[in-house]
Amino acid sequence: MTQFPVVNDCLQVNGIPLTELARRVGRTPFYAYDRGLITQRVEQLRKHLPAEVHLHYAMKANPMAEVVRHLAALMDGLDVASTGELRVALASGMNPREISFAGPGKTDAELAEAVAAGIVVNLESEREMERIAVLGRDHNARPRVAVRVNPDFELKSSGMKMGGGPKQFGVDAERVPAMLARIGQVGLDFQGFHIFSGSQNLIAAAIKEAQEKTIELAIKLAEHAPSPVRLLNIGGGFGIPYFPGERPLDIAAVGANFARLMDGMRRRLPQARTVIELGRYLVGEAGIRPGIPDNRRGPTPSSGGVRQFRPSHTKELSCSGG
Ligand SMILES: Cc1ncc(COP(=O)(O)O)c(C=O)c1O
Repeated sequence: MTQFPVVNDCLQVNGIPLTELARRVGRTPFYAYDRGLITQRVEQLRKHLPAEVHLHYAMKANPMAEVVRHLAALMDGLDVASTGELRVALASGMNPREISFAGPGKTDAELAEAVAAGIVVNLESEREMERIAVLGRDHNARPRVAVRVNPDFELKSSGMKMGGGPKQFGVDAERVPAMLARIGQVGLDFQGFHIFSGSQNLIAAAIKEAQEKTIELAIKLAEHAPSPVRLLNIGGGFGIPYFPGERPLDIAAVGANFARLMDGMRRRLPQARTVIELGRYLVGEAGIRPGIPDNRRGPTPSSGGVRQFRPSHTKELSCSGG
């Protein structure tokens, strides 16, 4: 763990020695997140990615209200996976128009809350489209929707692949044109596409390839859209090193390729804002769970690794500072 500075053999979180934090909390273990490290991450992304790319935080990585509030001020949007997260997102001050809701199996109550809030619902199936259309009619609203596409390719070398065959996430690409026609008939406010092909990737070339294929697919599907595409969420997949020997993602290489992709976007989908949706890359290395000399393994990265750290990411409170 190199990101937290060490002063007098004591890790510092936000410039505060861990011993002092433990004194304030009154017990261990506890979780501490370094706002400065999160800010640095966002600044680094902004430096390397084209200015017109919108950055969204996928709250499933860490939905703690303070973390979300901090990120809401730095990011262009938030992505939620439950109404619990939605409420935290709305309380963070983020404009509801910049909040999206993804995830299979949304209940009618969840859809109704999302429609009332005016956020974008990423539709995971035709059935969900029909249900939200009924809710819109019942509530005299025009739900804002995007289609989550299950792409016919995958993000190679990922910790978790979402695409490249039948998956529980999104609508298979070949079924999307018919769905787009139906969206135009049932009174939904079509925003665009959400195409998330994988997660936890450390290989810039694989991310570049997936981004190119994602934009190509969106351009093809846009021909069937009931109105111009205004939103293209191309997912993220930016990984963080978890194991010895893993190297950080070369974000400069990802960014350089992106500038070229944006040229194509401007020509082919001129009304679309391009969104990258990131979770662990923003917060996964900014948190610590100190004071637990404990051999249990935390959950796998895809279950939101930031909230619990593997033993190698912990340090006993042995320092005397603070
Ligand atoms: C739709 C969606 N968005 C965002 C994420 C967050 O991914 P990560 O934390 O790897 O950036 C996931 C991860 O499973 C996801 O399924």
